[in-house]
Amino acid sequence: MSVLSQFDVRGRSALVTGAASGIGLAYAEAMAEGGARVTLTDIDAEGAEREAARLRDEGHEVRAARLDVTDRAEHTAVFDAHAAAYGGLDIVFANAGIDPGAGFWNPAGHRNPEGQFDTFAVERWDRTMAINLTGVFNTFREAARLMKPQGRGSMIATSSNAAEICEPIVGQAYMPAKAGVAHMVRHLALELAAYGIRVNAIAPGPFVTNIGGGWLRDPQVRAAWDHLVPLGRIADTEQIKGLALYLASDAG
Ligand code: NAI
Repeated sequence: MSVLSQFDVRGRSALVTGAASGIGLAYAEAMAEGGARVTLTDIDAEGAEREAARLRDEGHEVRAARLDVTDRAEHTAVFDAHAAAYGGLDIVFANAGIDPGAGFWNPAGHRNPEGQFDTFAVERWDRTMAINLTGVFNTFREAARLMKPQGRGSMIATSSNAAEICEPIVGQAYMPAKAGVAHMVRHLALELAAYGIRVNAIAPGPFVTNIGGGWLRDPQVRAAWDHLVPLGRIADTEQIKGLALYLASDAG
């Protein structure tokens, strides 16, 4: 097998959550550009359809579906429809995630009244855990249901740098949710290896996307994050595509 053929995903099928924007959209583009057939899913159904239509116009075989990753019944329906359309499921990206709002510091390094552990809104904790942690569980559960009988597959979660290090300007629930994803992936990789299924996480540092209302586009916030990155700049979503293709393909 040539080294390039190891990265070949032509004819494979991939489903991406949170694919209407940012990192999830980059995963979907990487899969489509690699020749895979892709379902773009998002709670933002219009956004997913808009991006799918654009990719179809570029000649790719893609479809779109509304999927709120907190909704288990919707998950089952969307995964079944994907498998029916594309004859199975080879690759899944459990990517949808939100930013819970202010952390205990603001970007200037001052204490943030609403981001303290005792003042942080509990509804934000619950919502962040439901999407960023339980949402990944829901997505991987459906993927396992379809991939185990096939005896093959690649599951990829988007965790975060924040799974390993504390970021005081990020809201409370984000770090424990992402650390939970990272450990779920380790556990699941052990469990599903016997079925030929690989399970990995991509742990991005800061990327310019629409997360948190696009707060990383703000020059002051961006400068604070640029300063924290050894390369001196935060990343663009184009730069995550190679890693996504690597983990999705046999090269992974
Ligand atoms: P984004 O906001 O640009 O895209 C996230 C997408 O998820 C949006 O299209 C949104 O509609 C969708 N979404 C939100 N709630 C959903 C739900 N309940 N069900 C389904 N879809 C839902 O954000 P970004 O940055 O692309 O985030 C993608 C993933 O990357 C998230 O898990 C995030 O935590 C993670 N990440 C992002 C980093 C960054 O610096 N942008 C750094 C590390 C991790």
